[in-house]
Amino acid sequence: MKEKILITSGLPYANGPLHFGHIAGAYLPGDCYARFQRLLKNDVLYICGSDEYGVAITLSADLAGRTPKEHVDIFHHVNVGLFEKLNFSFDHFSRTTWEGHKQPVQQYFTDLFENGNIEPKVTDQLYSEEDGGFLADRYVVGTCPRCGYDQARGDECPQCGASYEATDLKNPKSKLTKAPLTLRQTKHWFILLDKFKERLSQWIESKEWKPNVVNFIKHYIRNLHPRAITRDSKWGVDIPLPNTEGKVLYVWFDAPIGYISSTMEWAQKIGDPEKWKEYWCDEKTKLVQFIGKDNIPFHAVIFPAMTMGQNQPFKLVDELPANEFYNLEGRKFSKSEGWYIDLEDFFSRYTADQIRYAIASNAPESSDSEFTWKDFQLRCNSELLGKYGNLVNRVLVFARNNCEGSIPQTLHVEEVDQEFLEQIKELVSQARESYQSFRLRRASQLIMELAQLGNVYFEKKSPWKDAKLDATRGKMETTIACCLECLKALALISYPIIPETASSVWKMLGNNESLETVGWETVMNTPLPTHQKLLEPTILFAKIEDEQIQQELDKLHQMSNTVEKEVSYTPLKQQIEFPDFEKLDLRVGIITSATALPKSKKLLQLQVDIGIDVRTVVSGISQHYQPEELIGKKVVVVANLKPAKLMGVESQGMILAGADEKALEVLSVQNLPKGSVVS
Ligand code: 2FM
Ligand code: ZN
Repeated sequence: MKEKILITSGLPYANGPLHFGHIAGAYLPGDCYARFQRLLKNDVLYICGSDEYGVAITLSADLAGRTPKEHVDIFHHVNVGLFEKLNFSFDHFSRTTWEGHKQPVQQYFTDLFENGNIEPKVTDQLYSEEDGGFLADRYVVGTCPRCGYDQARGDECPQCGASYEATDLKNPKSKLTKAPLTLRQTKHWFILLDKFKERLSQWIESKEWKPNVVNFIKHYIRNLHPRAITRDSKWGVDIPLPNTEGKVLYVWFDAPIGYISSTMEWAQKIGDPEKWKEYWCDEKTKLVQFIGKDNIPFHAVIFPAMTMGQNQPFKLVDELPANEFYNLEGRKFSKSEGWYIDLEDFFSRYTADQIRYAIASNAPESSDSEFTWKDFQLRCNSELLGKYGNLVNRVLVFARNNCEGSIPQTLHVEEVDQEFLEQIKELVSQARESYQSFRLRRASQLIMELAQLGNVYFEKKSPWKDAKLDATRGKMETTIACCLECLKALALISYPIIPETASSVWKMLGNNESLETVGWETVMNTPLPTHQKLLEPTILFAKIEDEQIQQELDKLHQMSNTVEKEVSYTPLKQQIEFPDFEKLDLRVGIITSATALPKSKKLLQLQVDIGIDVRTVVSGISQHYQPEELIGKKVVVVANLKPAKLMGVESQGMILAGADEKALEVLSVQNLPKGSVVS
């Protein structure tokens, strides 16, 4: 029976160009799955779009001297361009700034509000007379409440690493106008997520998702608390309540509803405006959402809670394949640090299928993985060209020269041929199973196993010998017919990952209708028609030379060195005497528990066993670590720091961490036991 499958990939921010790290996380897996499900002849709708609101976007736009609209227009088109280059097959790619997005977002809010799931609360926030409004923490600079550094950011101090609320800064100023800020009371609306704990916990029980995802979600649900869903900004969806000028809905409130509004836009585009309901409002639809791991809470908890608390019968997510991170040569992709691949340049030399295959075969499915130029070369040369391309080429060239360029008859099937055909079927069925269970690495391996199976069979049967004598011509024809069946299977199972190549192989076999039109079952159950004309084989993959790879690596290091020279390091502090240093009592401690502090965006409450005692430490690291990642970690504790109250909890020490503008890393110890003195 045909399944109705609604597939989404996380809506990318229109706030900068996407890179292969993003593609490996939420996008390529989504596109391969959509293509696979279309081959199975399921009713597939693949939806995505740009995520265009939020304070991060207004800040980047302000800094670039553009309006937010100009800014998102630029990056929406840049990202659409990349998806086109990579041959993505979205049925629709929308934008959250399109007119029709507002209505469903405001309806969600109104329903949640009227159902008692949203409540207002008055809090003190920083206000700028000059800017004429409240400023979000990204727009604030001031003096660090801990170390006194006067260029501290609104959320944390680059000098001492302290993490705080913007309202804790001394002398807070506007980042843009430098105008002084004052505290003023303002009202914001909070979604009462804690009310959904029970329903969410029951719902999650039935899910057979990756164990690390499920454990993370269960922990997250236990610690749910009300969360602000409005912001002081003019860039966003208006709050559907009176007297809310200058405030909009938080970007993470509107963005997931973008999946629904994008489907609505698709329905309008195809001239059947109500059709979106057939996907979103039908229990039988399977909703599969591809995301990167940093998006898990919003897709597995917050958006489902929002959906449970409103009035429409919208689907909740059924499958949530969340990938880990994909890096570049050992470091995160980062344009600002010069650690990236210029995509314009990339596509002038390499093809979409080459990068699609390189990413799929090394996808970050169960742990982080990375793109390296050497691995890319190896995958392209040894696998795509050496195994896949080689088989296609040798079989088709041979068939053109010896079988009049058409599919020969199979009159002499021997055991070896039968076995070969059965092995093909077995690999095809394993590939089907891999795609079905979101395992692109395994599917890529199976493609190469199939190609290799064909190469070994071709060698073993040596059809060039049988072609010489009339008596053995029939045997040679059978060999070639079997090889062509192998190419057919290869085209089929490689189509989700390398669609362009697979489609050309399929065409070279003389087929006119597309693979998706014919479909998986028919392709596999119908032998290629005898006497069907084969097309002239074309070269599928170019070889990548060592020098070329060396050039790519040199370019990468050059770009990063140029940027590094421009980095300004935090100035060194005043010298201290050794006795001052000696006053510090640093100990190795093991983190035995970690929980988020309610009401705080940054703080985690840790229990740390330092041998002598087990103590509570409140640490501003929750934006960089999930609580479960920390348990069991051996860290360095400043054990004689005077206790201090943070958000009402007494913190009995500090754990050491290093940080820069973007990342934070807790210092950890490998082998020393707890209680060891660090000096
Ligand atoms: O992390 C991100 O890139 C977000 N723009 C993802 C949003 S997904 C959905 F909820 F819209
Ligand atoms: Zn500081």
